[in-house]
Amino acid sequence: MLIIENLHVSIAGHTVAEVEKLELANGQRIGFVGESGSGKSMIVMSILGLQPKSAKVTGSIKFNGVELIGIPAKKLADIRGRLIGLVPQDPTKSLNPTMRIGKQIAEAISLHSNAGKKAILRRVRELIDNVRLPDPDRIIKSYPHQLSGGQQQRVLIAIAIACEPKLLIADEPTTALDVTVQGEILNLLLTLSKELDMGLLFVSHELGVVRFVCQKVAVIYGGQVAEFGNADSIIKQPAHRYTDALIAANISLPRNEIEVAGNTNQLHSVRGSVPSIGEFPDGCRYRNRCDFAIDSCRSFVPMRQKDKDHYHRCCNPISSAEKPNVTH
Ligand SMILES: Nc1ncnc2c1ncn2[C@@H]1O[C@H](COP(=O)(O)OP(=O)(O)OP(=O)(O)O)[C@@H](O)[C@H]1O
Ligand SMILES: [Mg+2]
Repeated sequence: MLIIENLHVSIAGHTVAEVEKLELANGQRIGFVGESGSGKSMIVMSILGLQPKSAKVTGSIKFNGVELIGIPAKKLADIRGRLIGLVPQDPTKSLNPTMRIGKQIAEAISLHSNAGKKAILRRVRELIDNVRLPDPDRIIKSYPHQLSGGQQQRVLIAIAIACEPKLLIADEPTTALDVTVQGEILNLLLTLSKELDMGLLFVSHELGVVRFVCQKVAVIYGGQVAEFGNADSIIKQPAHRYTDALIAANISLPRNEIEVAGNTNQLHSVRGSVPSIGEFPDGCRYRNRCDFAIDSCRSFVPMRQKDKDHYHRCCNPISSAEKPNVTH
């Protein structure tokens, strides 16, 4: 369904994202995980043509056989919304505060269909039901400020799925919500993806959250895919030292799982911080922060295969004999 090849995104001559190849099959759920500034949004927004104006995007992003890079803005806007839905990060900033909820959902439907008023209202109610919001009459008449953050995010999910997209992109959809509500929204996204056979590209800082929602994980660092594979395989048998450090720092993974990964009871943070664009070292982008860097990390590191469906770009990967994640 989605095939990214040789994607290159640069701002002011500096590379901010670089993806050689990444595929997402129909109905599949993939998670992008990485620290703040690692380039997750830049890749995702390039798919939607919503990258910053100053960004130059080259390469190929094909969705159902249609090339999205270079496509006229009007055509891309039609694909966005009709075939690809977006759930934004902060619901409170994404709804129109002066428009009733019912009207905002109805607008999303009528943007891509010629349905009459009655059919649209029926669909609005159906969508409110789909996202498990109670009391549709009240919701339809409400203004955004009359709903909680979690309810607002449900409304935005209803808007994103209004035209039954084949792919839903959710860029950190729960970071603005409190913890209990986060779980409900994650459950909802997972259920909808299964019910509607809708692919999901889910962005998060947390590996544990991504593993809960997605079958596949792409660990992003320095705008590149550092490691890619089945979620379980990535968490239980990481190859890349960056993935390993993320696991050690992950609060949402069960403690015993981190212990299985060879850790103590301590929660770690990833040493150092993500450099600004233009400040990543040559070769492995993570090598300045890595305790296991060797000489070959200074040269270009190609993606290599660990197992079936498991790839990484680490020169000194965690071997199977070694217990992951101890030194940070
Ligand atoms: N509009 C912009 N102009 C210039 N640089 C930008 C712009 N937006 C992002 N960047 C830079 O691009 C790099 C990748 O940013 P990106 O927003 O993709 O990170 P992210 O992984 O989504 O982080 P977060 O988890 O905080 O959302 C960062 O170095 C960031 O500073
Ligand atoms: Mg982001």
